[in-house]
Amino acid sequence: MAAVLDSVRAFFAPTTFAIDAENPSDVVARENLLDRVMGPDRRKKSSEKIRRNRVPAEGLALVARDRDGHVIGSVRLWNIEAGVNDEGTPINALLLGPLAVAPHQGGKGIGSALMRAAILEAKKRGHGAVLLVGDAAYYERFGFFAEKARHLVMPGPFERSRFLALELTEGWLDGAAGMIVPSGRMLASAPVRRAA
Ligand SMILES: CC(C)(COP(=O)(O)OP(=O)(O)OC[C@H]1O[C@@H](n2cnc3c(N)ncnc32)[C@H](O)[C@@H]1OP(=O)(O)O)[C@@H](O)C(=O)NCCC(=O)NCCS
Repeated sequence: MAAVLDSVRAFFAPTTFAIDAENPSDVVARENLLDRVMGPDRRKKSSEKIRRNRVPAEGLALVARDRDGHVIGSVRLWNIEAGVNDEGTPINALLLGPLAVAPHQGGKGIGSALMRAAILEAKKRGHGAVLLVGDAAYYERFGFFAEKARHLVMPGPFERSRFLALELTEGWLDGAAGMIVPSGRMLASAPVRRAA
């Protein structure tokens, strides 16, 4: 009964958030949000190996803001090569994650809005497929299924049933096999000081 009432309240609640491009001043709030939502082990995930020292794909770091502009949700996508095709050519794609919404804002459609905005933007930018590791019960509603990723592997431990893919261009992942490797831009490192 409580769940039904929650759904009804969420349905009639006015929209109290907006999806926006992440900007540099959001970084601290985003990291705090991820620590709170995903816990301290979040940096040990296999997906983290793909993200470490890389910048997200161009235009594909999004936040949800409340009315006051505070960050209450985050999603980022990363350039990867999703194995190779039948001819041995690397397949460019995106890895999505993490997706997180502040716990006190859950169930208002913020996660879905972030996902839909990210998928739309990825498509607009000409990307062919998105992969992620997550709960199929949540991500299937956006078109993610394990089938298209069945011959791909993450660079570290992962659960096969949680490794999901969405094609933005039909057939993009046909024959895709092998390991996911990062292909995005590296984070700029501090300039090397040379002795005079
Ligand atoms: C998963 C998450 C992003 C969803 O955000 P949200 O803003 O609450 O999502 P929405 O309001 O758009 O959708 C809520 C719906 O998703 C469902 N849902 C949420 N998490 C789910 C999960 N792990 N598996 C299945 N369904 C889930 C809810 O039951 C609800 O269902 P309903 O629409 O039938 O009522 C958020 O709960 C979160 O940050 N979780 C912790 C981090 C995480 O698990 N990230 C994703 C990795 S799997």
